[in-house]
Parts: sequence; structure tokens; C-alpha cells
Amino acid sequence: MDVRTFTVGQIAENCFVIRRDGADRALIVDPGDEPDRILGAVDELGLGIDAILLTHTHFDHIGAVAPVAEATGAPVYCPEIEVPVLANIMSFTPPPFGPFESYDADETVSGGERLELAGMEIDVVFTPGHSPGHVTYSIPDERALFSGDVLFQGSIGRTDLPGGDGPTLMESIRGLVEGFPEETTVYPGHMGITTLGAERATNPFLTALAR
Ligand SMILES: [Fe+2]
Repeated sequence: MDVRTFTVGQIAENCFVIRRDGADRALIVDPGDEPDRILGAVDELGLGIDAILLTHTHFDHIGAVAPVAEATGAPVYCPEIEVPVLANIMSFTPPPFGPFESYDADETVSGGERLELAGMEIDVVFTPGHSPGHVTYSIPDERALFSGDVLFQGSIGRTDLPGGDGPTLMESIRGLVEGFPEETTVYPGHMGITTLGAERATNPFLTALAR
């Protein structure tokens, strides 16, 4: 799989452009900011975008959704219960961030779906706790998880924002750690790319999961 990482905006959010090796159809995960940079790369690579996938709707993950969707014509997949946030971004964006353009989701996900997009099979996993509707996108053939703000290299997502809940987040993390092979690559919404096995072994926040 070909994964291009674009760390964008003031919160340094990771947007990913992903496709099968050599494919000319791709997906964009969490276009959080800097739409011109993301679109420029897509153009330079000569890619068509089949879908825009959102893990959750905190502003740092969705700030570029509207311009990227408009330029690519790709449908936007949004966690179902967070659709109102995407549709009214600035009501949920603290100053001084923005302005960002709102967007009405084209498709909704809530976990349990299997999507077939850009020649890839993608399973949607419900992973709440950091936000109430948060989902993780799993590509089993590639042993890859696009997990937004659930699990980070050496850390975990914050749970002090509206709709966040610590025990719920830990159960979501447990579901990923126990439900996927340890060599699974984790592409998180912030900071470095890691694996489930590395986090299970070294992440201090995961000691609570120890058997
Ligand atoms: Fe977030």
C-alpha cells in the first residue's frame, strides 16, 4: 500500500492519501487543513479520489473537507452521530482557529460496515471515547489501521473534550489491541506511525490493559 502523510494545520494533524501500490484511485483520510497542499499532491501524483474518510469531526481533522470534496468530487464518509458537527464546523471550533467551511456528509458510518473503495476493502470499527462517534478504518489486506485520535505513539487520545470518556476510550483501545494482529501498522491522527505490538509493549497508557 502507498501511504502519503501530510501533517497539516496548527495542531499538526496527519492527513493520509492512501492507495494500492501503483493504483491511480486513492482515498483521503481526515483532510484537516491546508487543502491546497493536499490537492496539489493529489494532482502531482495524478490520482483520482474515490472517497474522503473521516475518523471524527474535531476541527483539526475536518478543516479542509469542504474544499477537498469540492475539488475532487469525492463523497465524504462521516461518523453518523457527528454529522451535525461537520455541518456546522465553526460552532465547534474554538478561537483563534478557522475559519473553516462546513459540509453536509454524503455517507455515514457507525461501525460494522465493510466499504469497497479505490480497489480496497475497508472495515469500519466503532472506537468512541475521544469523541462520541469516532471510528477507525481497518484495511485487513494491508494490516493497517487509520485510527484518528484513539491511540498514539506513546500516548492516547484526550478525553476531556465534549463527548469524551476515559473508560470508553480504553475499551476502544482494548478492542484494537486484542482484535488485530500485533504487526498491524497504526496510522494515527497526530505524531508518528507505529504498530499495535510496539504500543502494547511500550505505551505507558496501555499498562492498564495488561493481562
Ligand atoms: Fe480529535
